[in-house]
Amino acid sequence: MKIVLLGYMGSGKTTVGKALASELKLPFLDLDVFIEEKEKLSIGAIFKEKGEVYFRKKESNYLKDLISNEDFFVLALGGGTPCYANNMNVINNSNAKSFYLKGSIQTLVDRVLLEKAKRPLIAEINNEKLPEFIAKHLFERKNEYEKADVIISINHKTTEEVVKEISSNLS
Ligand code: S3P
Repeated sequence: MKIVLLGYMGSGKTTVGKALASELKLPFLDLDVFIEEKEKLSIGAIFKEKGEVYFRKKESNYLKDLISNEDFFVLALGGGTPCYANNMNVINNSNAKSFYLKGSIQTLVDRVLLEKAKRPLIAEINNEKLPEFIAKHLFERKNEYEKADVIISINHKTTEEVVKEISSNLS
């Protein structure tokens, strides 16, 4: 079984992914962590030293590697992964089942505020400007996110509730 979790920064892909993987006894893979290990640099350092275009190319290549070389996993993508290269087609043409963890602007702002620094795209944005930035960014990205097989609302839900909802959608 291959399960792919996608969604905006702060939507809980990693937290939910780890819990889901442990419940289903599947390996958990995190694309950002995989990139950091392969490149031997943090995501922040890759953006800073090599630029976003380099990051997007690597992200797409490593996604293809993981999807085609591994048979059993729960994979958490980066927030932007579905929106670059041909990545959403790669996911949809594989035998993975994809889930969009969908949050409202308010939910995402609240969550992202707790962990802003490690995210290069928002680290420099003032807290007061964050709701407007996320609203616009999400608007640009939502068409790709909504190509996921299943959309799960995460607002006011615990990790366990989201895990349950995903599990009940696995046939
Ligand atoms: C990004 C999200 C990040 C990481 C990179 C770019 C994005 O992943 O891949 O900073 O474009 O939304 P998380 O969603 O895990 O923070």
